[in-house]
Amino acid sequence: MIKQKQNKGFTSKFGFLMATVGSAVGLGNLWSFPYRVGEGGGAAFVFIYIIMVCLVGVIAMIGEFVIGKRSGVNVIDTFGGISKWSKWLGYLGVIVPFLILCYYQVIGGWSIKYMVDYIGGIGVASGEGNVGSMFGTFTQSVDMPVVYLFVFAFVVAIIVLFGVNKGIEKASKILMPALFVCLIIVVIKSLTLPNASEGLLFLFKPDFSKVKGPTILSALGQVFFSMSLGMGINVAYGSYMKDSMNIGKSSVLIGVMDTVIAMLAGMAIFPAVFSFGLEPTAGPGLLFVVLAEVFASMGAIVGRIFGAIFFMLVILAAITSSIALLEVPVQFIVERFHINRKLASMCVAGIVFGIGAFIAMSFGVKAFQVEGVDLLTLFDSITNKIILPITAASTCLLVGYKVKPKNLMNDLGADKKNKVIIYKIWGFLIRYVTPIGILCVLGIGIYEIFSGEAGFTTIEGKLAIILTAIVLVVFSIIANVIANYLYDKKQKNSLQL
Ligand code: TRP
Repeated sequence: MIKQKQNKGFTSKFGFLMATVGSAVGLGNLWSFPYRVGEGGGAAFVFIYIIMVCLVGVIAMIGEFVIGKRSGVNVIDTFGGISKWSKWLGYLGVIVPFLILCYYQVIGGWSIKYMVDYIGGIGVASGEGNVGSMFGTFTQSVDMPVVYLFVFAFVVAIIVLFGVNKGIEKASKILMPALFVCLIIVVIKSLTLPNASEGLLFLFKPDFSKVKGPTILSALGQVFFSMSLGMGINVAYGSYMKDSMNIGKSSVLIGVMDTVIAMLAGMAIFPAVFSFGLEPTAGPGLLFVVLAEVFASMGAIVGRIFGAIFFMLVILAAITSSIALLEVPVQFIVERFHINRKLASMCVAGIVFGIGAFIAMSFGVKAFQVEGVDLLTLFDSITNKIILPITAASTCLLVGYKVKPKNLMNDLGADKKNKVIIYKIWGFLIRYVTPIGILCVLGIGIYEIFSGEAGFTTIEGKLAIILTAIVLVVFSIIANVIANYLYDKKQKNSLQL
């Protein structure tokens, strides 16, 4: 999927945009955004999220594209090129997508189960029983979630193995608009349900008294996750950008499209939540439970058709994101250890599936839970709430202080008159506002995690999150030290910034 610069990378602006939007739009928009809005109290979360997209998301995305476009190589060598002591950021940028993929595919598997049910008119689509409790019964069973995870992981691995570059790019150009249209239809159906306006109020009328530290941290983590920030993928895409492409405009456009899709998912789900008297705080099952109700209300045949198409698009959006997530560690292993690409893909995919199987079973099997919390929530918290803020803030600081102002102005592609103004604003944001903001939010969030205001109640649970995150950071710093001695003794800071 990821091509070397010699292969020219992206040829058209549209292709580049669709590929980045294809990587950005995925389960983050359709599955986690709505459930986090529900947990975070509705409109206040949405408001904070949108502010974060502007002040943090777009700013950091520009930064990643800038260094990627200037380096033209993989993430670790890009960071190594900036300074030999910033390689650890690159290592984290490889570890995090790997960890995310482990649970991402579990949800991909759940989506396959739903699509199969709608096609076959069985399970949630059988018209019998309570669709809400069926989701719980399914995820808490031991066998089927693993089987569906396997199917999903297998498809992703096969695609990466054969590297169907063009196929995916072409497919994204059709699938992304198709997803958009399908989402709009579900939104319309949802908005015409009785009591739909309550859902809209929940989504658009903020009540800031509900906002706490963990809510803000959750919004920030969601911005990173949804815009695929802090894990090297945009550095990689930046390295395939043509010189003529405008980094500033592209980043704004990607931010807008990603947010619009997430908001549409919210508008599909919340009117239905209130119409059917469900709980907005249902957590990770929200998408599955609520939409099953919406499709059931459409009538047997129509509901089944829409259900099948909708979950098929969810699966496809998840597949395009999974491929990019898998590509990050695979590309690194191939380039660093000179292992055959097929072997590397198979090994990584196999390990991801193995870990994913435990995550899939952790909903029903107490032994696989940490302090009563399933592994999906645990992996999600460690990566999105702790590691990504650290990598993203560090990347902003590096870009802000290391890249020469003159070069930055060129890369931002502003025209002469507003160049200086745009540069000054962006330069100020990326050096001070964004990193300090991220670190404050991280600090407040961690403090409140410890004070027990968020999710994990026992001290062991809290420590499990924090300690694992610390271990990962220390591990990547050790890898940085080892790499400096083993490979790069004489390496100079090679990147022209
Ligand atoms: N942004 C993707 C989503 O919303 C998930 C994601 C996070 C991702 N990091 C990534 C996708 C890196 C591709 C590459 O679902």
